[in-house]
Amino acid sequence: MNNRGKINYIKNLPSNYTLQSQGGGGVLNLHYNRGHNNFDYRRSKNNNAIKYVGVILTIVALIIVLPKAFGALFHHTTEITIQVHDAEMYVNEEKPDFSAELICKDNTSKVLDDKSGITVQSLLDNINRGDGYTLASDGDGTNIGEFPIKCNLAGDIQNTLDGDLKDKVNFVVKLGTFRVKEIDEAHAKELADKAKAAYEQPMLALTFDDGPGPYTDDLLECFEKHDARATFFMVGKNIPNYPDAVKKMGDIGCEFGNHSYDHAKLTKLSIAEIQAEISQTNEAVQNITGRPSTVLRVPYGATNDAVNGACGMPMIQWSVDTLDWKTRSTEATVENVLNFAEDGDIILLHDIHETSVEAAKQLIPALQERGFKLVTVSELAKARGHKLENGNTYFSFHKGE
Ligand code: NI
Repeated sequence: MNNRGKINYIKNLPSNYTLQSQGGGGVLNLHYNRGHNNFDYRRSKNNNAIKYVGVILTIVALIIVLPKAFGALFHHTTEITIQVHDAEMYVNEEKPDFSAELICKDNTSKVLDDKSGITVQSLLDNINRGDGYTLASDGDGTNIGEFPIKCNLAGDIQNTLDGDLKDKVNFVVKLGTFRVKEIDEAHAKELADKAKAAYEQPMLALTFDDGPGPYTDDLLECFEKHDARATFFMVGKNIPNYPDAVKKMGDIGCEFGNHSYDHAKLTKLSIAEIQAEISQTNEAVQNITGRPSTVLRVPYGATNDAVNGACGMPMIQWSVDTLDWKTRSTEATVENVLNFAEDGDIILLHDIHETSVEAAKQLIPALQERGFKLVTVSELAKARGHKLENGNTYFSFHKGE
């Protein structure tokens, strides 16, 4: 009745045998479990196959990894990362400049290629030079969204990386993100406040005709020194004679104006001739500065329907004539401006006369002291809420006009 002894006796039962009790009489049968045994047999066969595959994979992995690991010991790969910075703007506002930085944790004096002698530092300098890479995005600022900022290396640098420096330099580009944001309530308020402040600010647009000339540079220095701006209505044929002055105008925020190519009376010309007078001057400005002039002043103030229709630019006259060309007197010119200039006026001067430039150099600080901001014609128009239209003539931008 007690089967304990028998169990003890067969305690080292092989795994493919089991003890099964039969009926209620305490009789134990030794049962050879064939199925179980077959199952185990198959499993152990599978286990062996997995082991073999594992060993083979390990060997393959070592074959792949070891040379790299050893290679890394003797020929360490230099990693250079160009991290493109993120940028953001509100939709339809001024697009920001994209920027990036180079990151390399290696010793920069290391020679990368014995043949060319190129070092990490010279490669970094090469990439960092003005045209070593360009950054661009599909986002142009007019659509809301997120756009990657991509980096394109200059062709010669890419060729070096693909050629002599292959396997020696690992060049990684980390893209930046350009976010064009919707104008939210806070920003809309900020814009409105700014526009209101600009509208309220007393301002004048000093304008200079018939140049550039020998005194223009001197005048521009005065504008730069006082952080003031003006508009220069230039005669196209004079422009190639003073390229540095024209460049400087752009650099300090002055506006390029068009005053025809050779001071022609446009009302006496054919449509084709009018257009040539204007486009030749725009090209002359463009050749030096990379952009055309934005406003036109017709010589002698002479215009008619044909000129208005053909010119293709906003036309700017003046509200204060200093008569500087007539008096050729610094004192009289200064007095005329100080006596007559009011908020929103466009003031006519000529930078080809030394007396006028002397007058302007006195007027710039004097007008600022009286609270006037000295701006370009386009800035004055914008501050007073005017959008300049081609073929329309403007004389001033007083408040409420
Ligand atoms: Ni003129």
